[in-house]
Amino acid sequence: MTQPPIAVVTGAYRGLGLETCRQLAERGYRVVLTARHEAEGRAAAEGLAALGPDVRFHALNVTDPASVRRLADDLRAEHGRIDCLVNNAGIFPDPEPGGEAASIFRADLDTVRRGFETNTLGPLMLCQALIPLMAGRGRVVNVSSGMGQLSDMNGCCPGYRLSKTALNALTRILADELQDTGVKVNSVCPGWVRTEMGGPNATLSVEEGARGIVWAATLPDDGPSGGFFRHGESIPW
Ligand SMILES: NC(=O)c1ccc[n+]([C@@H]2O[C@H](COP(=O)([O-])OP(=O)(O)OC[C@H]3O[C@@H](n4cnc5c(N)ncnc54)[C@H](OP(=O)(O)O)[C@@H]3O)[C@@H](O)[C@H]2O)c1
Repeated sequence: MTQPPIAVVTGAYRGLGLETCRQLAERGYRVVLTARHEAEGRAAAEGLAALGPDVRFHALNVTDPASVRRLADDLRAEHGRIDCLVNNAGIFPDPEPGGEAASIFRADLDTVRRGFETNTLGPLMLCQALIPLMAGRGRVVNVSSGMGQLSDMNGCCPGYRLSKTALNALTRILADELQDTGVKVNSVCPGWVRTEMGGPNATLSVEEGARGIVWAATLPDDGPSGGFFRHGESIPW
């Protein structure tokens, strides 16, 4: 029997990551749901698997190089290859937007560093470790944000904004180096989504937010690479 396509999603025991796993599994992917908290991650994977989808758990802290290496080694041993990587794990390191505390003049550099560690360097390490497992054909989705758009850059929250702008640069660098391969790399803004990060007043459900991520994760061979998208539509950097 041929193996189903394999998708790896980071930070996936709740929010957009979990819903992305559900939608990819619905499309026939074998999904490796990863999370740094083992009990929560395992429970989330088992919850989806109980409904039928092919979902397995693997522990992953995206800021820990040893954890990333372990994931790559286990994926190679167990599946031989992967078809899709969704860099979803993210943090909003800054104080609540709107207040004086979120001003760049009050920004604590350790907060900014934490943003980079999780939102930029984590995806970089995962791309370095897992794109070789795509063997020349695959899809990478960097879950970014409108708050990282240079064309719409405003004040406040430098930890989050700088890390997502840098993540977008990572998308461009990778897409360029991979241009003659079948590996496509894109950034996706999911919109403002009701999750722990987005809060209860956000305009979109997780189902709606994850749809644009899954669109980029399942692009056909003639689909775009090196772009920034929201709900499947190109948006400016
Ligand atoms: N919600 C929105 O409106 C919105 C808008 C634009 C972009 N986004 C982006 O969408 C992505 C998903 O966010 P969300 O809204 O679903 O927020 P969320 O519910 O807060 O989910 C974030 C996930 O990332 C995980 N994570 C954080 N640091 C990690 C690490 N070092 N290793 C592994 N996992 C880690 C969290 O797990 P822990 O519990 O372990 O921290 C959690 O599972 C993020 O990249 C975010 O920036 C969201």
